[in-house]
Amino acid sequence: MGRGSRGKRRLSAGAEISRRALFAGLAGAALMPLRAPGRGARAATLLQAGAERRLRAAAGSAPLVGGSYPDTAVWCYEGVVPGPLLRARQGEAVRLVVENHLQVGTSVHWHGLRVPNAMDGVPGLTQDPIASGARFVYEFELPDAGTYWYHPHIGSPEQVGRGLYGAFIVEETEPPLVDRELVWIIDDWRLTEDAQISDDFGNWHDASHAGRLGNTVTVNGRQPQDLSVRAGERIRLRLINAANARVFALRFQDHRPRVIALDGQPVAPHEPAEGLVVLAPAQRVDLILDLEGQPGQRSPVDDVYYQQDVVRFLELVYDEDAPLRDKPLDGSIALAPNPLAEPELATAERHRIEFGGGMMDPKLRRGEVTPDALRERFAEGGIWTVNGVAHLAHAHEPLLRLTKDRSAVLDLVNDTVWDHPIHLHGHSFRVLTRNGQARPHREWRDTLLLRPGDRAEIAFVADNPGDWMFHCHILEHQETGMMATLRVG
Ligand code: C2O
Ligand code: CU
Repeated sequence: MGRGSRGKRRLSAGAEISRRALFAGLAGAALMPLRAPGRGARAATLLQAGAERRLRAAAGSAPLVGGSYPDTAVWCYEGVVPGPLLRARQGEAVRLVVENHLQVGTSVHWHGLRVPNAMDGVPGLTQDPIASGARFVYEFELPDAGTYWYHPHIGSPEQVGRGLYGAFIVEETEPPLVDRELVWIIDDWRLTEDAQISDDFGNWHDASHAGRLGNTVTVNGRQPQDLSVRAGERIRLRLINAANARVFALRFQDHRPRVIALDGQPVAPHEPAEGLVVLAPAQRVDLILDLEGQPGQRSPVDDVYYQQDVVRFLELVYDEDAPLRDKPLDGSIALAPNPLAEPELATAERHRIEFGGGMMDPKLRRGEVTPDALRERFAEGGIWTVNGVAHLAHAHEPLLRLTKDRSAVLDLVNDTVWDHPIHLHGHSFRVLTRNGQARPHREWRDTLLLRPGDRAEIAFVADNPGDWMFHCHILEHQETGMMATLRVG
């Protein structure tokens, strides 16, 4: 079961742990009060226009595993994992005061929010790191409604991997009518046998393969608990993947969730391909879930991304109450579009961007790179490349200079045998094609999963001036070279 086969790996100090071992210890956890994964949604307070909100980054602890396991020592915002759920209304301005009580410099990046460059939270590029003991005030407006999140952008594999992240929800003026809204911020942790974070951050194996895959999955900072539901209700489920490296593909048995937004941006409501809700690191999916089962029914939600290893994620557990209604609500579930400029394809500038490197580099097989050249790059810490160059620092010569307000079409190629969720800062982009096929919904995204060998065309209007990161969101890949910057203006 579980990710035993993958999850069982050598950890620090020779400790070995498997997801099975962690679950085995959970028998006693049944006595713990059940917590719906969505409870975070109710804990949120709406940011009042003009009001300020403090985010204090510090060491803390969290009952990630539960049962008889000790709390896990983490780094987190305001003492909780995930950090406070920030909610504000579209069009409002927010002021967020980040205080650093960690021993290391930090920053906050507002993933997916189209903020001014100086508020983007990228040390070396848009600001200095917030030193230990210092604070930084982020202030910006919220042009787009949707599901976003925030996390540090320095030493990210360790800072995000130890628990520094939270959800940021921007409410629509007219949200679709639902009975409940839930936010699931999903993470994947590598824990030792005593439920502590394995401190083998930055190791070469993770960096050169699939990144830091863990052995313990959490939803809102707890191991997933079954979700009790009532027949007939309609739930809006906002999913966020905060894991360093793990991709999820959720299959809702007996149910047909419909996708209404991807990476915060509205999309024509549709059932996902093959019924799988795929969520790569940093991606978000908003779903409408109609609970069409019967009172007393149990329906599993499984994670099937790593196909040899189907994992029961949680179960939807119907209570015995009579159905809330006999047919699904009929109001529209489509979201109003956000004010994104439509790219003009005919006049767009076009660029090809190739992601390369990693173990089993296809260029080695094709004789396009010599083992010596590779060894040399690896020795300098550059495992991954963008257009042949491994960038190890945020500040570097821009990969592209884009004319402000002009449209750009980027032809992205994954020339590796690994997954790469590629994220662009400061803009959302339309996905035009994937492996030569037009995308039926031409969805807007800010993070696109490129599977091995994939090719995709994306388009956007370069309307937000500044230097913007463009990188893989498997944090160990980013840190070892798979990043670049685009300069707009
Ligand atoms: Cu979510 Cu460059 O980051
Ligand atoms: Cu990658």
